[in-house]
Amino acid sequence: MRAYLARYGGGLESLCMQDVDDPGCGAGHVLVDVRAVSLNFRDIMILRGRYPLPVRDTLVPCCDGAGEVVAIGEGVTDPALGDRVMLSVFPRWIGGPFRFDRADQIGGSLNGTLAERISVDADGLAHIPEHLSYEEAAALPCAALTAWNALTGGERLLPGSTVLTMGSGGVSLAALQFAKLLGACVVATTSSDRRAAVLRALGADEVINYRKQPQWAGAVRSCTGGQGCDVIVELGGTGTLEQSMQCLKPDGTLALVGSLAAQPDTLDPALLAGVFRMRRIAVGNVLQFHEMARAVDAHRLRPVIDRVFNFTEAPSAFEYFLNRDAIGKVIIVKDVA
Ligand SMILES: NC(=O)c1ccc[n+]([C@@H]2O[C@H](COP(=O)([O-])OP(=O)(O)OC[C@H]3O[C@@H](n4cnc5c(N)ncnc54)[C@H](OP(=O)(O)O)[C@@H]3O)[C@@H](O)[C@H]2O)c1
Repeated sequence: MRAYLARYGGGLESLCMQDVDDPGCGAGHVLVDVRAVSLNFRDIMILRGRYPLPVRDTLVPCCDGAGEVVAIGEGVTDPALGDRVMLSVFPRWIGGPFRFDRADQIGGSLNGTLAERISVDADGLAHIPEHLSYEEAAALPCAALTAWNALTGGERLLPGSTVLTMGSGGVSLAALQFAKLLGACVVATTSSDRRAAVLRALGADEVINYRKQPQWAGAVRSCTGGQGCDVIVELGGTGTLEQSMQCLKPDGTLALVGSLAAQPDTLDPALLAGVFRMRRIAVGNVLQFHEMARAVDAHRLRPVIDRVFNFTEAPSAFEYFLNRDAIGKVIIVKDVA
């Protein structure tokens, strides 16, 4: 079969398509014919050699994938042959809190989805909601589950709560959609008017342009009547953390997801004396994956897709993703119609 291989830290130059042996399908596993893959910032971190969890030296990259079950290993009762499935990023982390001994991940310590077929733990799969295409399903496992975990994995998010999302990347768009679905008010920050319009169309109640208003925490406080936010889906890291803490409600939750704007030595240590809960997010477990899929199914929610590339164009898809111009997920499919 055809698969892309890349080297950990080898950059985009190391990504090349090769003919490799079909992975087969052992006990407890199923063989999935991969129809669509989506890109995430963690795939770039792996190519740059800056990923916090163990990664193979040479690997099939990408953790997001959706496809059809084409073979079933011994002992597997679900899914069945022909089922449409999407893959959980951490197939061996079934439930409970994150554990390093269950942290094997697709497109990291395990081979990834940028191949024609992949053999995966049957337990780490979810059925694709009927209304979604393979492309849409492939957009969900990493970014959307991370957003779902950030919003629902800690304190209960009540209707009428206020959530702050940052930017218009994959995690933030999903967080906005889920927060609205859960009845929350959403304040979103972004870098441009074009992106602001997309955020508003998805239901953001307030949008703040952080380029025009670099001290955006004050704007967040004032548009929440001085109260601040109940939950912040933090993506900037040390570059935004200080302002996030300034606009988090006392007893609010800061879900620490990413560090896109990381800067050394920017945090006022006095802020750490505040009263809040900080949760470090690691995508989510298989049970949360099923929970999220049920919510997507029940509300006929559709992830935002920016552009679809063909399998042979995967390096161009990575370049496009790296340009950071996309609004929504960048997808790679086996065959573009
Ligand atoms: N902990 C986990 O389990 C987990 C899982 C998934 C992702 N992540 C992390 O979460 C982050 C986002 O992932 P993603 O897949 O959503 O990435 P992405 O799709 O590449 O998101 C990029 C978007 O983030 C915004 N952004 C970029 N630089 C920013 C900055 N300096 N300050 C504020 N916003 C900025 C931009 O939107 P605007 O132009 O609209 O501002 C940009 O379009 C990454 O750091 C990723 O590694 C963590």
